[in-house]
Amino acid sequence: MCGIVGYIGSQDSKEILLKGLEKLEYRGYDSAGIAVMNEAGVTVFKDIGRIADLREVVDYDVFASVGIGHTRWATHGVPSKRNAHPHQCETERFTIVHNGVIENYELLKQKYLKDVDLVSDTDTEVIVQIVNKFVNDGMVVEQAFSETLRLLHGSYAIALLDCENRDTIYVAKNKSPLLVGVGEGFNVVASDAMATLQVTDQYIELMDKEVVILTKDNITIKNLDGIVMERAPFKAMIDASDIEKGTYPHYMLKEIDEQPAVVRKIVQKYQGDSGKLTFDKKIINACLEAERIFIVACGTSYHAGLVGKHLIENMAKIPVEVHLASEFSYNMPLLPKKPLFIFISQSGETADSRSVLVQVKEMGHKTLTMTNVPGSTLSREADFTLLLHAGPEIAVASTKAYTAQLAVLSIVAEVLGRAQGFNLNIDLVHELSIVANAMSTLVEDKHTFEEIATEFLSITSNCFFIGRAHDYYVGLEGALKLKEISYIYAEGFAGGELKHGPIALVEKGTPIFCLATQEHVNLSIRGNVKEVVARGANPCIISMDGLQMEGDRYVLPAVHPVLAPLVGVVPFQLISYYASLHRGCDVDKPRNLAKSVTVE
Ligand code: M6R
Repeated sequence: MCGIVGYIGSQDSKEILLKGLEKLEYRGYDSAGIAVMNEAGVTVFKDIGRIADLREVVDYDVFASVGIGHTRWATHGVPSKRNAHPHQCETERFTIVHNGVIENYELLKQKYLKDVDLVSDTDTEVIVQIVNKFVNDGMVVEQAFSETLRLLHGSYAIALLDCENRDTIYVAKNKSPLLVGVGEGFNVVASDAMATLQVTDQYIELMDKEVVILTKDNITIKNLDGIVMERAPFKAMIDASDIEKGTYPHYMLKEIDEQPAVVRKIVQKYQGDSGKLTFDKKIINACLEAERIFIVACGTSYHAGLVGKHLIENMAKIPVEVHLASEFSYNMPLLPKKPLFIFISQSGETADSRSVLVQVKEMGHKTLTMTNVPGSTLSREADFTLLLHAGPEIAVASTKAYTAQLAVLSIVAEVLGRAQGFNLNIDLVHELSIVANAMSTLVEDKHTFEEIATEFLSITSNCFFIGRAHDYYVGLEGALKLKEISYIYAEGFAGGELKHGPIALVEKGTPIFCLATQEHVNLSIRGNVKEVVARGANPCIISMDGLQMEGDRYVLPAVHPVLAPLVGVVPFQLISYYASLHRGCDVDKPRNLAKSVTVE
């Protein structure tokens, strides 16, 4: 969601800001803008739509070596030019970009801005107008900025320009991600290092409620009480080529194709000197000491958690519950004395998950984050982290992060089982290498999944996914993938539940994708297919070698049944991709969605 980039140096800032915003496009947005500052003052360019639209309205003749930029994902007020950032105070002295949600902005408006005509519907404008008011009341800018921040309830990452001080960008953050990038004779600020990797790979992490005074040669970090904080930069470990599409038409396709390599990399990263899979002893102990594990996640990561529960319960015999982060607070389960919380999050920034993390940490419970992004908020704030090693995932629709989550969860299950001396009867290193090979076969066979997308999804407006056991959870993920990028109404159902309601939705020609990779439920799921066929459905059965029956549309290469979800999901990813493509949708940036969901 919303992305911020800022530059202060000697070069012209416009292209650095625009390129930075393009790198943040993956986060999801509906409008964008930049503000550049020079002797003539601050000039703001903004527009709804894509960065390409913003580029059309930028005046390239304006030279300005200081600037801030923003991609907005609407929360307060519709997506419009008026609500797009940057926002200015009524005198136009101060200009702001903001990521996050200010929960008490209405109250602040009533209390401090009764006499000010606000021009937007945003919570953001309130911040910049209050800074201006405090300065008019006699505060110096830094004090006015800190005092304003003290009033804000909610989350923010902020960059602020003062056209009466062209040497400074004021920066602050609370609960929303923001990094300061260190350069020679320039400095930058960005929501994600990816945005400014083109100019520096050195970054300084900011903590909540810190303020940064950024000049081209200096970075001064203070807390809200004005105490200076010292912090060394770190090197962003992102390979610039990882965030390029290369010859691929879409990131999603690239990321689907990367899955075999990701699984192999995970095995390599988690293999100890003895060749056995392992991870930090402290994490193993924390898991083994837990009476019960609570997996908390959202969306695709939640779907991975559902499979993870069975892997851990089967191999490690530790009871596991899986919860949607957004529901956890309202529906808090009874906790044992020693629970362990595992947060699964590709981005490590998801606000719903973070809110549970904060809550359970306050209760004194142990926490582990499983994430793709080292140094992300959830990783920093949890007691332990296990990395997914999937490389940057840019497409909004998660693919390789999901299979990476499943692979790491299987490793966690196996390591915990072995640590307790259980005879698991599975050589996971070997089985994961078979999975990687099977995935390679599937991604080589793209044209078949394109044909399936054409055959089943060309004219439909709805479609269902069914399965039993692990295949049910993969169906949930298949349905999410399809709906989010093709906008076809799709739902996943447990095969046995059809007759308890969903079968009423089946009409002549309704496409039903059925995954059949689990021997112990093969006959039952086939029975469910018969039920829907009897009501006119158009079934597409994807089975696994050894379990196939006449009429199956695709047979997956055989893998160990507990790892079948890693392979079973690939056809659904590719079918969704082609359905989206054929419908002319924006595959990588589906409408209304954001990659990193930083508001609750
Ligand atoms: O970064 P996270 O894994 O915490 O994100 C959770 C969900 O927002 C995410 O999985 C979302 O459902 C994806 N768009 C699914 O493709």
